Amino acid sequence: GKVRAPTHIISTISDDRGEEPCYAGVPMSSIVEQGYGVGDVISLLWFKRSLPSYCTKFIEICVMLCADHGPCVSGAHNTIVTARAGKDLVSSLVSGLLTIGPRFGGAVDDAARYFKDAYDKNLTPYEFVESMKKKGIRVPGIGHRIKRGDNRDKRVELLQLFARTHFPSVKYMEYAVQVETYTLSKANNLVLNVDGAIGTLFLDLLAGSGMFNKPEIDEIVEIGYLNGLFVLARSIGLIGHTFDQKRLKQPLYRHPWEDVLYTK
Ligand code: ACO
Ligand code: LMR
Repeated sequence: GKVRAPTHIISTISDDRGEEPCYAGVPMSSIVEQGYGVGDVISLLWFKRSLPSYCTKFIEICVMLCADHGPCVSGAHNTIVTARAGKDLVSSLVSGLLTIGPRFGGAVDDAARYFKDAYDKNLTPYEFVESMKKKGIRVPGIGHRIKRGDNRDKRVELLQLFARTHFPSVKYMEYAVQVETYTLSKANNLVLNVDGAIGTLFLDLLAGSGMFNKPEIDEIVEIGYLNGLFVLARSIGLIGHTFDQKRLKQPLYRHPWEDVLYTK
């Protein structure tokens, strides 16, 4: 019989060998002719399946809402400084992307992990938050530098409204809202932030869409797909900030001495 030479790479998401590229088996012509959107392409390349349109719409809303949050946040700041140092687009972009992590934009996966674990174990919000405190871990998805109980994050409200209208179940989201009620009773800045909203709502999407079995959901949460949504989204804004600085011909940035406390 035929002897198959061992391959050095296995790939399961796309195939470029035929007449046209395929994403998870779907040819590019179908993607274009059937009017697929970015949410559909993300579904194919990340989740290896076509998801119902309310799911792909939700993914697109996440991408749109997280595309930018002004020039003052960590990512945009780094990108702006890098662009002003005369660096190229890719350098400016990755300089901003490298700030995405546990404090900024990269708490989505951990929010999904910790909230899922707490909900699945039937922990009350009090038990969940206080057990995190005992472990010395800030609750991922809770807290914001400028958003407050009396100045909620509009993005979170928009995501919640969409999910309440279109998702078959929002049990993880409702749990996150209860957790937020408890954390807000402790301090006014401990709102459910956009990372926490996306993390918990994605749990609802995974569990409620009927498109994923339990081991698949556990794998997605364990591997950590969801920070990818923020990374992808914020790249749009960071690229915009790079162009903005170059268009404005901004000079090399130097931080003012007056804004530094020089001390021994
Ligand atoms: N869980 C529990 N307690 C918290 C949390 C939290 N997530 N966040 C703040 N606190 C409490 C702590 O007691 C903190 O006191 P400490 O410094 O002694 O620990 C107190 O609130 C004050 O916190 P600040 O340090 O003033 O909060 P700051 O404004 O610096 O932090 C931040 C904001 C980084 C978002 C923080 O709330 C946090 O770490 N949250 C978890 C990570 C997260 O969700 N990040 C995503 C933010 S949204 C985004 O980036 C798009
Ligand atoms: C963001 O989307 O960048 C933020 O929520 C962080 C911030 O401090 O505004």
